[in-house]
Amino acid sequence: MEKLNGKKINTAVFISGRGSNLKSLIKYSKKKNSPIIIKLIISNNPKAKGLIYAKRSKINKYIINCNNNNISENKLLKKLFNNKINLICLAGFMKILSGNFIKKFKKPILNIHPSLLPRYKGLNTHKRVIKNKDKYSGSTVHLVSTKLDSGKIILQKKIRLSKNESEETLEKKVLKTEHILYPQAIKKLLFNL
Ligand code: GRF
Repeated sequence: MEKLNGKKINTAVFISGRGSNLKSLIKYSKKKNSPIIIKLIISNNPKAKGLIYAKRSKINKYIINCNNNNISENKLLKKLFNNKINLICLAGFMKILSGNFIKKFKKPILNIHPSLLPRYKGLNTHKRVIKNKDKYSGSTVHLVSTKLDSGKIILQKKIRLSKNESEETLEKKVLKTEHILYPQAIKKLLFNL
């Protein structure tokens, strides 16, 4: 990662749905000491609820069509290069980026995952945690690599499950920690903390 030199890093946030992490990242980016500026919000879902935050914050949005992988990824890369994007934050983005995309983008791509990786890669993490009667869960911010949910871990936050924890209550708890964890992880990545 290039040196910051007081300049903010042009960032794109990728979403597919609710966008609560996007909301927290926008809030963070507006802080004086934040190292990032969100230039683009990308969604593969034109109906994603989170797109409301693009409108509210007057951030450019870009909807990608994922039916034909290569074509839309190449278009997307062009969009990212034209906007001089140096960091991608995946925040509930439900599409897997190809190895080709990751290689061509060359800059860091972060993802937030609702479990203590390497445990519970993939979907339905809370359901599996409850089923296994785990005492702890949490969330992880990691670099995206070609293997799903397996890139270098930047930061994790552990939470304890309560006695009658349900999928819904666990999701709420984890989400709350994610909104704090993602900005911290960005800081850690960019300032090598
Ligand atoms: C979060 O739980 C995140 O860990 C996972 O998808 C969810 C996105 O939630 N990757 P939101 O759209 O940011 O509210």
